Amino acid sequence: MANLHCEQLLRQMTTREKLAQLLQVTPISIGYHLLTDLTGPDAGLRLQAQDARRVGSLLNCAGAEVTRSLQKDFLASNPQGIPLLFMADVLHGFRTIFPVPLAMGCTFAPALAEQAASIAASESAASGIHVVFAPMADLVRDPRWGRVTESFGEDPLLCGLFAAAMVLGYQGRDVCQEGRVAACVKHFAGYGAPEGGREYAAAELSESTFSEMYLPPYQAAIQAGAKMVMASFNAMGGVPATANRRLLEDVLRKAWGFTGCIISDYNAVDELRFHGVATDGQSAAARALQAGIQIEMMSTHFLDHGESLLQQGEWTHEGLDEAVLSVLELKAELGLFENPYKDASTQQEQKLHLCEPHRAFARECAQKAPVLLKNENAALPISSNEPFCLSGPFADDPHVLGAWSAGCTDGVSLMRGLQDAGASAIHHIPMQPLQSMQNGPFQPVLSYAATLKASPPDTQKIVLAIGEHQNDTGEGASKACLRLTSGQEELVRAAKALGKTVIAVVFSGRPLELSPILANCDAVLQAWFLGTESGNALADLLLGKASPSGKLCMSFPRSVGQIPVYYNQPRTGRPLSASSTRYASRYLDCPNEPLFPFGHGLAYGRCALKSIAWDDEETPLLRAEIAHESGLPYQETVQLYVRQEAASRSRPEKSLKGFLSVSLSPGDSHTLSFPIAQDMLTFPLDGAQVFEEGFFTFEVGFSSARTQALKRFISKEEFSKLKRSIQHA
Ligand code: BGC
Repeated sequence: MANLHCEQLLRQMTTREKLAQLLQVTPISIGYHLLTDLTGPDAGLRLQAQDARRVGSLLNCAGAEVTRSLQKDFLASNPQGIPLLFMADVLHGFRTIFPVPLAMGCTFAPALAEQAASIAASESAASGIHVVFAPMADLVRDPRWGRVTESFGEDPLLCGLFAAAMVLGYQGRDVCQEGRVAACVKHFAGYGAPEGGREYAAAELSESTFSEMYLPPYQAAIQAGAKMVMASFNAMGGVPATANRRLLEDVLRKAWGFTGCIISDYNAVDELRFHGVATDGQSAAARALQAGIQIEMMSTHFLDHGESLLQQGEWTHEGLDEAVLSVLELKAELGLFENPYKDASTQQEQKLHLCEPHRAFARECAQKAPVLLKNENAALPISSNEPFCLSGPFADDPHVLGAWSAGCTDGVSLMRGLQDAGASAIHHIPMQPLQSMQNGPFQPVLSYAATLKASPPDTQKIVLAIGEHQNDTGEGASKACLRLTSGQEELVRAAKALGKTVIAVVFSGRPLELSPILANCDAVLQAWFLGTESGNALADLLLGKASPSGKLCMSFPRSVGQIPVYYNQPRTGRPLSASSTRYASRYLDCPNEPLFPFGHGLAYGRCALKSIAWDDEETPLLRAEIAHESGLPYQETVQLYVRQEAASRSRPEKSLKGFLSVSLSPGDSHTLSFPIAQDMLTFPLDGAQVFEEGFFTFEVGFSSARTQALKRFISKEEFSKLKRSIQHA
C-alpha cells in the first residue's frame, strides 16, 4: 500500500522535483533563518525558490515547534504534499546525554546501549527528528583520531553487538511507532582507519583486514535492520567511499541485501573533486550516483547536474526513480504521509527531555562505563568520613558531555556530584579549566602545580580531575601527541611530591598517553566523558557506593610510537619471547604490550579464575570456575578469546568470541559456560566464511592479557555438530 502510494507520487513528479528529493540541506539553504549547528564547512548553499520547497530532507534542525512549523509551511507549498524528513546527529543521547560510545563500549553491555538509544529516540522524536545519524560502526585502532570517541572500540564482535543494539534501540520493531526514529549507520566503510589517525585521511587496509575486522560491525547494524547507511568521507585504494560502487553496490546491496537508503556525508559529493576523482561538480555527481549514493548532503550537484547526466546517458531514469523511491519509502515507513509531524510535540519534549527516569538510566550507564586502570595503596574507594582534597581542571567543570552534545544542558560536575553524595569534607583547590586546542594547538602551560603547592591540602588523599578538553575529541580533533597538556603532568608530580595518595580521574574521549603520570598515581580511574550524570556517577564510584566494572574496549598505548597497538593483531614470523635474540619483532625502547590492554579493568573486589575445563556432554562447552576472593561486591566481565594455531591464512593473535558478566559478592563462586559455536572458528577467505580444521587455543580471563588457555583440535566432523552462532550477552 505504502509502496503503491510512493510509486503514484513518483509518477506525478517532474525530473527536477525528483532530484530535489535527493537533496539534504540546512533550513538556511531553503530560506529559513534559523539557528542551526553547522557540522561541516559552510558553503553558503542557498536554493532557488522553486527548488526550496521540494527538497527531501533537512539536517540538524530540531525542536517540536520549529519542525512542526517548517513542515506545515513546507507542505503548503510542496506540489505533491511530500513531507520533509528531519535528520540529526544523536550519537549518545539527545537531551539526556549518555556516556560517549567509546565509554559505553567499556560496559561490555550492549543491552545498556539499546536502552540508551531507545531513550534518545523518544527524546529526539519528540523534537521532530525522524532519522538519526547513528550508530557509528567504525572500528578504531588509532587514538590519535578524534572520532574514536564515537566508536565502540577495536574489536569487531563488540563493535557489531553495540552497533546492532543501538539500531534496535532507535528503531524498535517498527519505526513508525511513537518514540522511534530510523537509524543511519555510518561511515561506510573504513572511516575509522585514517592513516596516521589524521582526520579524513585515506585508509590503507588489506582486503583481509578490511573484511575480517572493519566490515563486520556495519554488517551487524544492517542485519539489525538499519534503514539508512552513510558513506564514509575517506578513500581506500584510491577510491573514495562516496564513489565506490564495489562497496555500496556489491558489498552493501548484493552481498548483504541492504534495501534502505544510502546518503553521502556532509559535502562529500563535492569533495570528490578534491580527492582527485572528479574534475567538476557534474563529474562528481556522476561518480557518486553511479556508485549508488541516493541522498546528497550539503552540496547540490545532483540537483544542478542530474538532468544533464540523464540526457548524456551517464545516469538512468531507473536509477533516479530507484533513489527517489527509497527516500519516499522511508517517509512512508515512518508514517509521515499519514502524520507528517509524527511525534513532534512540545508537551512530549517537556515530559521527556532530561526527565527523572532518563537521568536515572544515564547515571546507571555512567556508573558502568568508567574503567579503573590502577588502584594501589588502598587509594580507592574513599570512605564516607574520610576528608580528601579535590583539584585539577575538571574538578568542578560541567563540560563533560563529550562530542555531539552542543547546545545540551551541562553535565553534573565531579565536585557537585561529590557534594550531593554527602562526601564529608572536600577540600577543593580550584583550578582554571583547560582551553581547547581548536583555537590553536599550543596551549599555555597553566600554573596548576604552583597552585597546588601554594595551598597544599592537609588531607592524605588527593583526587586530581585531569584530561583533555571535550572539544578536542570527536570530528576534526586528531592529535599527534596524546600526552596530558597544559601542565597537568606537572600537577600530578607535584601532588605526589607532597607525599599524597594521588587518585587521577581522567576525562577524555580517547585513550591518552598516561605513562608519564602512572608512577605518580596510586589510582587511575578512566572516566571518559560520561554525559549528563557524570559527577553523580563518578561520586558513586569514588565513594565506594558502587564498584567500577568497565573493561577497556580500546587498548591504551604506552606512547604514540606504539600506535596502532591493539590486542587482535596479526602474527609475525619472529614473535618476541623470553629467549628472543636481537632478531625479534619488538622495539628497542619500549615493550610491545600496551600500557593497558583491551579488556582490562579493575574493581574494588578481586576474583580468581580457579579453573577452566571442557564439558563435552553434547557439544563442546568451556566451563570456567570463578570465585570472589576479596574486597567489595562487583560485576566482573569474563572474556573468551580464540585463536586458530595454523590455517591457510595466518589468523590473529587472538579474537574475542564471547563474554559473560557476573555479579560477585564475598563468598560467591560461579561456574560460567561458554558454548563453542561455528562462527567462532571461521574466517573470511576469498569472499566466503571458511572453516579449516586444526588446533584452536581457547582462552578465558579477565582481560585480553590475563587469561588461562586450553588447546583443542577441532575436526570438520566436530565443527559440523556445533551451533552456527550463540546469543551474546
Ligand atoms: C559527519 C557525520 C555527521 C554529518 C552530519 C559530518 O561531518 O562526518 O558523522 O553525521 O556531518 O552532521
